[in-house]
Amino acid sequence: MTEVQESRPAEREPPDARLSDSVTQEPTPPGADEPAQNDNRNAGFFNPMRIIRWMDTLTLPFAIFFILSERDIHPAYNMTWRRKFALGWRLFRITRSIRKCGTSWRAHLVMASKILTFPPEQEGVVVECGCWQGASSACLSVICEYADRQLIVYDSFAGLPPADPRDEQANDYATGYFYGPLEVVRANVRKYGVMDRCTFRKGWFEDTLVDHKQKIILAYLDVDYQKSLHECVTRLWPWLVDKGYMFIDEYLILRYCALFWSERWWRTYFDTEPPGMIGAGVGVGVGQFWVGPKGARIGRAYSRPYQAAHSVGYTRKDFSGYWSFYPDENAGSSARDLS
Ligand SMILES: C[S@@+](CC[C@H](N)C(=O)[O-])C[C@H]1O[C@@H](n2cnc3c(N)ncnc32)[C@H](O)[C@@H]1O
Repeated sequence: MTEVQESRPAEREPPDARLSDSVTQEPTPPGADEPAQNDNRNAGFFNPMRIIRWMDTLTLPFAIFFILSERDIHPAYNMTWRRKFALGWRLFRITRSIRKCGTSWRAHLVMASKILTFPPEQEGVVVECGCWQGASSACLSVICEYADRQLIVYDSFAGLPPADPRDEQANDYATGYFYGPLEVVRANVRKYGVMDRCTFRKGWFEDTLVDHKQKIILAYLDVDYQKSLHECVTRLWPWLVDKGYMFIDEYLILRYCALFWSERWWRTYFDTEPPGMIGAGVGVGVGQFWVGPKGARIGRAYSRPYQAAHSVGYTRKDFSGYWSFYPDENAGSSARDLS
């Protein structure tokens, strides 16, 4: 597969270099439990990466069938099985064609299954925060083509920002990782996606998201850092429509998912209850075998991908993740009154 060349080589690879074409690897702090990647290269026929790629390909029709069996897909989109398989195949091809790709086609299928539930008369765009080299933008733009929506892509197009010392997911050394210049992103979307569906907004989230003014049916946040997630959620949540979706990529990191369960955070910023998160810690089921919290070993080689990042976590504007049963404190009355 050819890949659109960037105008200058990325100075830095993500710390945990890609193991396969369609697998997300979040930055790994120095000294953390590092995958023994050389083991993978030396494992011959039983190379876990080869098994994973075959598994990923062979289960493609099943994943498309089951994920797009979402019963609420709106009839206006005429999503016949032929169209569903065409969509799934195209997402698969994109994630296999663009080498620097952080979100699996399965994750995109899940988002498609939700985007297509909104009736055409429901106003709202799709928003992506964090696109790296545009593989996820290309996928989302194709989904938007099927759903007749517009996609707005926010990114620095300069990689990760400098670390905020309060941010437990950020690292000083990672500044600039996931560098994806705008011209490379555009070229990838032009080649593999649907350019007419896209608007690109360049800059740090804290500067660009304040000007966001469109209703949102689905936002996909793949932004790595807690500070970036904080910016995205505080700025975009108010623009979600009543049953609008917010997806995240860092669903394996419990501390990161914790924002969506934090009563203090939601009370402080929105004076409301936390919405919770479906898939926190494991991702929604897309045909993977993740038992967590760390990667399993297949044979001699360490391998996470088929057990980890093929999925997503998500919440919805009308969800509640509030625990209300406190019998010892106030038997017989609603614990909501206690807050
Ligand atoms: C892991 S990459 C996104 C991967 C991409 N979604 C994919 O599937 O290929 C994270 C992206 O978030 C962007 N990012 C993180 N924090 C940001 C911030 N505060 N402002 C702007 N961009 C940010 C980085 O530039 C990077 O492109």
